[in-house]
Parts: sequence; C-alpha cells; structure tokens
Amino acid sequence: MKSLPIAAGILLLCMGCAESISQQGTTTETAAAAGTVTAPDTAQSVDPQMDRFVGDLLAKMTLDEKIGQLNLVAVGFDVTGPVVSQNVDENIRKGNVGGVFNTFTPIAARKLQELAVTGTRLQIPLLFGYDVIHGHRTIFPIPLGLSATWDMGLIEKSARIAAEEASADGLNWVFSPMVDIARDPRWGRIAEGAGEDTWYGSQVARAMVRGYQGEDLTKENTVMACVKHFALYGAAEAGRDYNTVDMSLLRMYQEFLPPYKAAIDAGAASVMTAFNEINGVPASANRWLLTELLREKWGFDGLVVTDYTAINELVPHGLGTEAEVGALALKAGADMDMVGEVFLKHLAQAVKSGAVSEAEIDQACRRVLEAKYKLGLFQDPYRYVDEQRAKETIMKQEYIEAARDIARESMVLLKNEKQTLPLKRSGTIALIGPLATSQRDMIGNWSGAGDWKLAVSVEQGIKQVAGNSVKVIYAKGANITDDKQMIERLNAHGGELQIDTRSSEQMIAEAVKVARGADVIVAVVGESQGMTGEAASRADITLPGQQQELLKALKKTGKPLVLVLMNGRPLALKWEDENADAILETWFGGTQAGNAIADMLFGVYNPSGKLTATFPVEVGQVPIYYSYKNTGRPFGGEQLDKYKSRYLDVPNEPLYPFGYGLSYTTFSYSQPQLSQHTMLPSETLEVSVEVRNTGNYDGEEVVQLYIQDLVGTVTRPVKELKNFQNISLKKGERKTVTFPITIDDLKFYNRDLEYVYEPGDFKVYIGTNSRDVQEAAFTLRENQ
Ligand code: BGC
Repeated sequence: MKSLPIAAGILLLCMGCAESISQQGTTTETAAAAGTVTAPDTAQSVDPQMDRFVGDLLAKMTLDEKIGQLNLVAVGFDVTGPVVSQNVDENIRKGNVGGVFNTFTPIAARKLQELAVTGTRLQIPLLFGYDVIHGHRTIFPIPLGLSATWDMGLIEKSARIAAEEASADGLNWVFSPMVDIARDPRWGRIAEGAGEDTWYGSQVARAMVRGYQGEDLTKENTVMACVKHFALYGAAEAGRDYNTVDMSLLRMYQEFLPPYKAAIDAGAASVMTAFNEINGVPASANRWLLTELLREKWGFDGLVVTDYTAINELVPHGLGTEAEVGALALKAGADMDMVGEVFLKHLAQAVKSGAVSEAEIDQACRRVLEAKYKLGLFQDPYRYVDEQRAKETIMKQEYIEAARDIARESMVLLKNEKQTLPLKRSGTIALIGPLATSQRDMIGNWSGAGDWKLAVSVEQGIKQVAGNSVKVIYAKGANITDDKQMIERLNAHGGELQIDTRSSEQMIAEAVKVARGADVIVAVVGESQGMTGEAASRADITLPGQQQELLKALKKTGKPLVLVLMNGRPLALKWEDENADAILETWFGGTQAGNAIADMLFGVYNPSGKLTATFPVEVGQVPIYYSYKNTGRPFGGEQLDKYKSRYLDVPNEPLYPFGYGLSYTTFSYSQPQLSQHTMLPSETLEVSVEVRNTGNYDGEEVVQLYIQDLVGTVTRPVKELKNFQNISLKKGERKTVTFPITIDDLKFYNRDLEYVYEPGDFKVYIGTNSRDVQEAAFTLRENQ
C-alpha cells in the first residue's frame, strides 16, 4: 500500500490559510471571492467540476505562485541514478516549479512530489515528464522502425506498455508522440517519427495517443501524451536540425498539419512547440499557430509546453530581449516554459509594466492546473510513485516478449536474391561488422531509461536462436566511423563507440580471412545510434566510415553476402543494393533486437515490415517522397527529351519506394475490381483485389490502397495512401481484400483552405508498395 501523507486523495489542506480544496468539487471559497480570477475558459473546458476546482484554486494564488506553475525544470542524472540539485529543491519549496522532467523511479519522484505537496503554501502537486519515445524501460524499435510494422494494434501496444512502465516509475507525462512529417533523411530526427506520409502518420499519431492515455487519464497506469513538435519541425531546410521552415499554408494544411490534428482529436492532453520558425515567426512565439489555429480553430483545450529553452532561443532568432520574448511567447499561447526560466524571471515585471496582463498568466496557469487535475494529481499526488507496482511492472516477461515480436514486425527485407535468406541452421557463418556485437546501439537514440546492458546483440541473438547447429566466427572488419571528432561527440553523449585502433586494411584483411572460412557472410553494418536523433543531421547518408570498403572486400570472396542494416534514417544504398545478396533493414530494434534479427535470419519469422520513408538512390534527390506532384513537364522516361523535370545524372525514382518491403514468400495481385464506376458523395464504393501467396512460405502482406485525383482546382499528388490491410496467407492461399472508398478519402484542402471534394475522375491503385500497383478508375458525381 502507498503511504499517503494526505487522506485518501480527496482533501488537500491548505497550510497556513485554513482553506480547503477538493478535486471532487466541494470548496469553501469561490473564485469570485478572491477577485483575481478571470472567467474560466468555458468555451473550451468541458468539465464544469474541473473549471470550478481550478477557478477556486487560481483565486487563492499569488501572482508569483501562478508564474511558478509555468516553470518546467529538468533534473539531471548521474550514472547511479537521479541527482536532485539543491536549486531545484529550493525552487520547488518556493513554489517556483510546476513540473519536472528527467526524474524517474518512484523514490526520486516521491521525494520531489513531497517537497511540492508538503512544502508549499498551496500544496500543488508537480507534473513528472520524460522523453518516453519508444518504450520506457523495455525498449521497442525506434519510431521510424515501429511505423514500418504497419500495425496500429502493435504501435498502440508499444505505447501502452511504455505508459504502464513509465507510470509505475514515477512519471505522468511523456513527451511523445513526435508526429512531424519528415521527407529529408539528412534530418536526424526522421528516426523519431512515422516517416513521410500524412495519412499514415495520422493513424500512427492516434494509436500512440490511445496507447499512452487510454480511456481515462486519471488512472494510475495512464500518462499524458505530448504531441510534438508543433509545428513543421520535420521540414527544416536542407535537413539541418532547428533550421528555418517556410511553407505555403496550402501545403501545411494538406501535408504537414493533419498528424498533429489527428493526435489532438484523439485526445492528446498536451502539445510541445517546435524550435523552428514558420514563415518568419518562430513556432514558440507564433500566435497564429498556438492560438488561432491550435485553440480557436482546432479547439485544443490542453497544455502547451515549449521545447527545451525554446523561449530563450527566441533571442538569437532575433525577436528581442529575453524579457520581450517571454511576453511574446506567453501572449502567443505558450503555457509552460521548459528549462529556460524566462517566465520565472520576467513575467512578474511584465505584468507590472503592462507588457502582459495577469489574465494572460491566469490562462496559462489554468492550463497547467487543468493538466494536473485531468491526471488526478489533486486527488492523489502519489498516484505514480508506487514502488511495489514498479517492481511488478517494469520489464516483465510479457513486455520483453512484446518487444521481440514488435521488433520482428518492424524489420524490412529490402533484397533477397536466390533465396539467400532464410539461412540454413548448419555450416559456418562469418559474422562481420562493427554493429554485430553492439548492445548499446540496439536500443537506439532517445531510450534514456532503457538499460543497454540488458539489450541482446546480433551475436547473442544468433547464438540463442541457432544454438550449436551453426558455427559463428566473428571479425569486426571496420569501425562504424573513423572520424575522430564525430566519435568524440557521439561518445560525449552516451555513444559507447568502441574504436579499434588497428588500421582499416588490417581489420578488413582479418574479416576477409574469416569470411573465406565460412559458408555465408552476415555483415552487420550501418550507423551508430547517436548518428540519428536530435542534432544529428548528416549531409552524407551513405554507410559511414570504411564500411562500404569492407563490404567490397567481402564481396570479392564470392561468398553469399547478407547485410543486416542498422540505421535511423533512409540511407543511400546503391552499391549495397547492386552487390549484396540479401539486405535486412532492422533499424535500432530495441531491447530484444538481436533475438528478433536472428528470428528473421533463420526464418522463424517471415519479414512483413514496409518502409514508411523513401530510400533515395543519392542524397541529391532529397527531399524525396512518393506523393509528389506531376509538374507541367513530368518525366516519363524519354531519354532524349531534355526539357523534362528530371536530373541529368541520377534517376528521379528512389532506390526503395514508400511502402516497400519483401517477404520470404511472394505475392501476386489481381486487377482491382470496383463495385461501380461512378460514385455519389453519399455512396461507398468498394474496390477488391485478390492477393495470392505464390511462394514457398506462409507470409504476411500489407495490401496498400492509393488514390489519385486527376483534376482539381489545386494540383493534386500523383498518389496518396488512403488505406491498407494486413493479411496472412498460407503458402498457396489466396484472399480477396476489399476496401471501402468514401467521400472522406477524396477530400483535400482547396485554395481557401476549405476541406472539400471535387467531382471528377479518380484513379485507385492497389499494390504491395507505392510503386508496384495495379489501377482502376472511377468518377465522382455530384448528388442530384
Ligand atoms: C527535444 C524534445 C524533447 C525535449 C525534452 C528537446 O531538445 O527537441 O523533443 O522532448 O528536449 O527533453
């Protein structure tokens, strides 16, 4: 049982003021009596009890106490656990803190919560946030990999498990999901999202929010989600992190904003601002974005927190002094200031000078308090600090098994010539490459609470799955990179890169020798986990260091060459695609990655993942995505026709398109059949296709449906994903897959930013990826 310093979570006794507040709604004082509270934002608040409760509380608060609630502080860690700095303790006691992040474990969180609840005048509990990005303690594949499962049930499950663990570990707020659409693989944070597609990204956004928040945020095993980074962070120019974004409203509405909106419609209770500017105004000071669009148009009634020191960064953005930008951010609609303490330092003075009104501070404070109310923290501030629950929940067997399963589902088979895979459980495997024995890289970037020492490496996984039936001989062959500066930078941030000081020639020679003595080469190559994620943009997206040289030398041995790739972004893999016999994309697969990879290699599991971000041939093609526009001079392969939209030196087509992924078996698709060739807006049209398993294994396939609107008042993409279905087919089996098409699948934003349909001709494409499709056509007519 939890020991509660306050009676059963109902009454918070206000020390020194003899007033009491209950989350159930009975109060001894009204907000009006205190005279300082603005009218509650009833238009947005749906819970009158919460309005009353928060209104009453606000009425009791001094200006300083209100400003204190807007302050979110980070509490650091050392290697043995949480370190609570004196400064934070003192600030909490002074009522200068609304929430903390980077503190977890029930003991550490309880300690801080006690300071807030017993040490401050109004006993307002703290929020406890953390970057729970792809699992909390049990780590799942990085989000880009998770999205490659094309399985909303599994994606939701990963978020649910993360919420179970995080909420048992002292946390009530996760800074996830990141729903930024990303089409430039140079941007390191492409690893943290669901890839390039608007419709698909919106499905993932909803699934994640459902997983974190469940049906009832007050439950002890649910946490508040935080949709980030609002907005357009993934569209940074040149793929360089934090860089400028300049984009038409039409494009924003059509392609970049829907996933944020989807997450909010799914009930996400908080939103994080982005670092970037949007059309000249940084997101964290952008009133159009944070108030007019988010609150007034979309009706968001939750909490807006800035990104890390994003208010301070408005100074170098060029918006004014620290005091000035603090006022700007608050007035724009930012409620909580992450780490920068600009609100804390400057808002009281800003009220005095008239730069901001107390009503504006009340509004921000109300949202912080409402978030706490929604989490049930006023009922029981210790709801998330139950040591027993932590012991029973964290990394339990069921979660470890889920991690293995989800990792398998996330892997994408990019190539498999001559059925090189699956491997036989006999003979000798040359296991080569800098990532073959790595445990640290398995859990990827942004896995702060994950213990990489518990992660399974590829070498360990192969041994566990194949046992003594195969002989494994290992050689490193190359370092991930030989760039000393990069190694230093990565290791300064937990990279754990083990650098072999032998020359590249020596390492390659050793690997070739090992390969010669084997039946097959499994080369585990790619990026180190720290090469993607925040502040990890790369201009060269080929395999780093000497890894390609290593592969070239291995290729010369004539042995079958299997690549196991680990990376957090699409890479440019032209040579690898032309020369390897098989390529398995495994991302950074999480706690169970090594076991999952071995399951795939030996055919315990048949790959079914599909890419959610296009892999280019060359970095010069980026940004590259399947849902491009035709242009007035589309290139159709006419080699001698110069004046077409094309490159002289590289193809327009990617290496691996969106939606791509092979299986150990093969599938054939019939021509799609439409239930009717004309459709009224009120009608549902059906399109069916027969899919047959034509190969030698049972398998799973993601059947994808794309639509093209041939004529519009604004130009429309050549294809847009609108639906998909996962099917399992036994060897030789066939199934008819039917998709409904409704008017919602045909809508888009017009020039006036209205979400409309326009009668006319459409094409529907069905296939195994966005490139290899079969088509049918229909006409949308207006209702009579
Ligand atoms: C990142 C956010 C993250 C925050 C808190 C920032 O640097 O952009 O995604 O949630 O830090 O750690």
